[in-house]
Amino acid sequence: LEAELRRRSGALLLVTHDRYLLDRVATRIVELDRGALHSGHGSYPGYLKARALRGEQAAAAERRQANRARVELAWLRRGPQARTSKSRSRVERATALLQRDVAGPAQDLAIDLPSRRLGAKVVNLHNAGKRYGGRTVLRGVDAKLKAGDRIGIVGPNGSGKTTLLGLVAGRVQPDEGKVVVGETVVVGWYGQDPRPLDPRRRVLDAVSDVVGQTRLVDGATVTAGGLAERFLFTPQAQRAYLGELSGGERRRLELLLVLAEAPNVLLLDEPTNDLDLDTLGVLEEYLDDWPGVLLAASHDRFFLERAVDDVLGIEADGSVRHHPGGWAAYRQRQQQRPPAAREPNDRAQAPGRTARRPRLSYNEQRELGHLERRLPLLEERKAALAADLQRAGDDYQAATVTGAALAAVIGELETAEARWLELAEIAEG
Ligand SMILES: Nc1ncnc2c1ncn2[C@@H]1O[C@H](COP(=O)(O)OP(=O)(O)O)[C@@H](O)[C@H]1O
Ligand SMILES: [Mg+2]
Repeated sequence: LEAELRRRSGALLLVTHDRYLLDRVATRIVELDRGALHSGHGSYPGYLKARALRGEQAAAAERRQANRARVELAWLRRGPQARTSKSRSRVERATALLQRDVAGPAQDLAIDLPSRRLGAKVVNLHNAGKRYGGRTVLRGVDAKLKAGDRIGIVGPNGSGKTTLLGLVAGRVQPDEGKVVVGETVVVGWYGQDPRPLDPRRRVLDAVSDVVGQTRLVDGATVTAGGLAERFLFTPQAQRAYLGELSGGERRRLELLLVLAEAPNVLLLDEPTNDLDLDTLGVLEEYLDDWPGVLLAASHDRFFLERAVDDVLGIEADGSVRHHPGGWAAYRQRQQQRPPAAREPNDRAQAPGRTARRPRLSYNEQRELGHLERRLPLLEERKAALAADLQRAGDDYQAATVTGAALAAVIGELETAEARWLELAEIAEG
């Protein structure tokens, strides 16, 4: 579709949340935000920059939003574009830009819902298969989910992504083979099927119901209001009746309710389809720190690049292939396959050009993916600590503690950055 759209010479007006599509196709982005139209020039990175700037000028309540735009911009710079440049100076410029306003915006509400403790055994699929009315959807699926796994599921529509998630969740029973689920597993399911919600109740009540039932480890407390606020429900919006919510607000609430149940295995089925950019930003930030197992079916390459380390690809015959190294590695491998095995739209490779091998080992690719998620987080933490340090002022004790934490984060950031550059350069060759 992208190639088709880019080839067109006519004007094109596109309504989408697909950030990759925006990045590749749009030359101008117009955002509709709380009744106001903001027209940005340039494509997706330009839009993010303009958005960050706008946020800086806006009131404190809008600051969080700008923060997210900056984090994403940083991440974007480190993504494919930064990788192709090989240039250290480019990274340094991006970093400098981000550090310009260290004393700036307030930090995000520090609410981290713990996930429940997860034992060694998570979910194992042994030669699992599923047929519907004689048609084989999945066959011979062997997969072992381990603690800390973050896996994307990709495949064309109708290939069996939802079915595979269903097998893991116990919602779908296999026709052959078996699915073994560990005793400590608590599944969180965020799928396309709407959750029944009483239209006469209010947002805050719905969140309180779930949070009240969620036993948190470490005696940590979470208030329903704080959690709702992290997911962009202002105190006023928390009083809204569920029956009044827009489709997007309802989806955001459903997502929040799933996370509030503190699952340790989170299954997301096409999560980016009907969440707006802000909610997606919150979700991605949330997942960055989320300690549980993540399994997400998605077409959104931005989401996959940021959130997962490995990809399971569903093949035309219903078998499932494991692609270590996340979306980028999956994509690279797809492009190296012989033309016959590829998607029908892909052009055959020019004769004489040999396929490029990935230059990183399995573990290095995973490490690179991990670093790309981790770097913006470290930068955020560094900025927050620097702001704390400034606020500490004459309070010698607070300044000492914060200063030490800041030094540690800066050290960690430098090590991570050096390693990232090293790996990115090997990957580029
Ligand atoms: N409950 C069902 N009954 C009959 N066919 C189904 C059922 N669920 C899924 N299918 C079929 O199985 C195939 C895979 O579906 P699904 O897992 O939803 O694919 P995806 O999520 O990748 O789009 C599709 O052809 C779909 O029509
Ligand atoms: Mg599906």
